[in-house]
Amino acid sequence: MTLHAIPIAPKVYWVGAVDWGVRNFHGYTTHRGTTYNAYLILDKKITLIDTVKKGFEHELLERIASVIDPQKIDYIISNHSEPDHSAGLPEVVRVARPEKVFASVMGQKTLARHFGDIGCPVTAVKDGETLSLGDRTVAFIETRMLHWPDSMFSYLVEEQLLFSQDAFGMHLASAERFDDELPWDLLERLSSDYYANIITLYSPQVAKLLERVAASGLSFKMVAPDHGPVWRDMTRFGRMVENYKKWSSRKLIRKAVVLYDTMWHSTEEMARYIADGIVAGGVRAEVMPLGSSTRSDVASMMIDAAAIVAGTPTLNNNLYPSLADALTYLRGLKFGTPIGAAFGSHGWSGEGVPQLKEYLASMGCEVIGEVKTQYVPDAVTLTACRELGIKVAERVKQLIPE
Ligand code: FEO
Repeated sequence: MTLHAIPIAPKVYWVGAVDWGVRNFHGYTTHRGTTYNAYLILDKKITLIDTVKKGFEHELLERIASVIDPQKIDYIISNHSEPDHSAGLPEVVRVARPEKVFASVMGQKTLARHFGDIGCPVTAVKDGETLSLGDRTVAFIETRMLHWPDSMFSYLVEEQLLFSQDAFGMHLASAERFDDELPWDLLERLSSDYYANIITLYSPQVAKLLERVAASGLSFKMVAPDHGPVWRDMTRFGRMVENYKKWSSRKLIRKAVVLYDTMWHSTEEMARYIADGIVAGGVRAEVMPLGSSTRSDVASMMIDAAAIVAGTPTLNNNLYPSLADALTYLRGLKFGTPIGAAFGSHGWSGEGVPQLKEYLASMGCEVIGEVKTQYVPDAVTLTACRELGIKVAERVKQLIPE
């Protein structure tokens, strides 16, 4: 028995690996696992597009071997040097002994920094350059900073098949290989999570790339990313492109995220009243307790939120560590959330809320209010919390008219 390659187009196969069990992808909680997609093109020059994460090389090689002897591979194209797609490269080169590896100009450097001499020359290709495989041609499209400096797309011209590395991907381990075998709602949610956590920071580049591709007149019959299913329903893919336009333009809705952690339930109690006030003010509230939500869950929720209301206990003269973790992550992603507010309970010194306000300001939020309390919130404090929620909602509605 062997693992098999899956045909996706004439003489083109998916030969990747399914990582059913991964739940921590460099700190991003992958609730549904992921795949590391690689693709094999059979032509006069047999070509492999990308490899897999270290430890999954055997799965890749076994799938390739179900179609051809891996030693018949002539070319490997590395669209993206991040280790989930390249750490298997040295082993695949050792087994396959290809003639050449191709990568972008930055990819050539990045592969060298990661792996040193991989045992095969790496040829740099430029934006717009083409490579004949014999009967078919690959065109390279540089996508620098989407989302690494080395990133590029490869386009198999005759099949109108785009190998898009991370773009249009999602973390989903599934037995199905194509988008039309899976529910749209699942694909949309996981794509949104992926965009929020991996691509948000590079939204200006996404907007430019979408314009560039539209202007190029390229058409697509299929889009094959490095994670999740292959897009072959182009109506669905068109909807996903519209989502990318929406996410990259930071189109916000009337939604506020209430993010908090708690030690003895006081800050939690405050969060309830704030959320109640937000809803009473006519805005959607999403409450994210950090005791049961990961930083990437919060990022997913932030993709279209107009406000963030953060709550923390004060612990040892500081905000609670989980808040520092989540807010550092959100700050790095540069969501540009316009409105912020802070709340929290403390025992004696009360540094947590001022520190939260500094975080929110450093994220670019206009901090429009705070509620602090000592130990346990009384009725006056809880009323103030609800009023803060209403104030946040009013500000959101001002910013986002119906
Ligand atoms: Fe899937 Fe940026 O690596």
